[in-house]
Amino acid sequence: MNNKLSRTKFPDNFIWGVATSAYQIEGAANHDGKGKSIWDTYTHLPGKITDGSNGDIAIDHFNLYKQDIQLMKDLGVKAYRFSISWPRIFPTGKGAFNMKGLDFYNRLIDELLKANIEPFATLYHWDLPQTLMDEYGGWRSRETAYAFADYAGFMANKISDRVKNFFTMNEFYSFVDMGYQGISIDIGGKKVNIELAPGLKLSTAQLNEVRHNAVLAQGLSVKAIHASGKLGTKCGPADNINTAVPLIATPENIKAATIATRELNAGYLTVMLEGKYTDAYLEKAGKDAPKFTEQDLRDIATPVDFIGLNVYRPTIYVEHSNDSIGYREVPLNPSHPKMYSAWHSLGPEVMYWAPKIVETLWNPKEIYITENGCAAKDTITPEGKIYDTDRIMFLRSNFLELQQAINEGVPLKGYFLWSFMDNFEWSAGYGNRFGIVHIDFETLKRTPKSSALFFKELSKNNWIP
Ligand code: BGC
Repeated sequence: MNNKLSRTKFPDNFIWGVATSAYQIEGAANHDGKGKSIWDTYTHLPGKITDGSNGDIAIDHFNLYKQDIQLMKDLGVKAYRFSISWPRIFPTGKGAFNMKGLDFYNRLIDELLKANIEPFATLYHWDLPQTLMDEYGGWRSRETAYAFADYAGFMANKISDRVKNFFTMNEFYSFVDMGYQGISIDIGGKKVNIELAPGLKLSTAQLNEVRHNAVLAQGLSVKAIHASGKLGTKCGPADNINTAVPLIATPENIKAATIATRELNAGYLTVMLEGKYTDAYLEKAGKDAPKFTEQDLRDIATPVDFIGLNVYRPTIYVEHSNDSIGYREVPLNPSHPKMYSAWHSLGPEVMYWAPKIVETLWNPKEIYITENGCAAKDTITPEGKIYDTDRIMFLRSNFLELQQAINEGVPLKGYFLWSFMDNFEWSAGYGNRFGIVHIDFETLKRTPKSSALFFKELSKNNWIP
């Protein structure tokens, strides 16, 4: 009998990586001259984090980074997407920089390169310097966009000798909509409010301004990175695209899903890649539409080198409709399966449709999956094993869809699993474990789960084990 798996291989140069973010893992909140971020403030407000925890120590990656990189190496990780804490570099968001903060990332990058792991740096994963919040209202002001572009250029200048790829900002909808207005989602027929720092409750007109400033920041930062980085430095956003998935893949429904996806991302990816707000977006916003100039739109649409997509679930399922918008959302069956997080309905086909539709709409040169993964209720057996069967099932089904997209020629260059280690999961505190490496939050001991061994096989053989 032939025991060899015959699944199609991924392309030889496909990059298998893992992802994390600074506030969720670093700790050392007041160390080596770091300034406060809005997350340092927010987590210390009573009642904001489900388990009352914060990221002061998190999983102490700031001190344990060498051990973590060794583990990455052992597990066959080829690339690491980490984020840089802006207030570690500029304690007040701008002005004087903090050499000790920069030194930490220099140490981290050098250690990664020594381990033969390609560093991919994200410049903004939500930990805005508190001073910019106090002075300008954070992303409510375009001053913050200018400060971000300066910081992005500064970082490109300092580290692009070793870091070739930068993700500018992570998940616009999350830090803008959930941070500046809050959202409400339907979970099992119940409306649940979700909020992230800074936890504001702005009006829709104000929110639209914040969105506009955020995409402006992204465009200006791309310019700054290209101007200050070494020749050939590449960058682009890492966005949690809202994906409309065709319920049944007929040509009409695929068209409907494409139209819907463009509209669902009108305030973010669509304006960044097309340099205009869609008619439907402006019409719906009416008097609440953001105020902008033609120059703003040109800046927002500064050409990016790649698009990063954070893909977890289909946002909606759609079918074709004959009315003017061209699509109809179909309701999710109450029995539709979910992963462990209440918001995480299962729909691996989104891993095919998200990049596929992005290619159809905007034809980018390169696409990365910058996040994908799931939380699970991981338990340790008496022998010290963590059999996260549901996470492996989730990943495998997603990889099959990813492979399909690659086979059809979608320019996918790499994949970053969220997350390498269990960490501080924002408002959920330490309750939702997303890692393929288990963390004992008391002792900070790291233990690879079964999914980490699955990832190791995947990366070693370049096919789905
Ligand atoms: C974020 C991560 C987060 C993950 C799981 C994404 O929204 O970028 O920081 O931990 O999803 O919720």
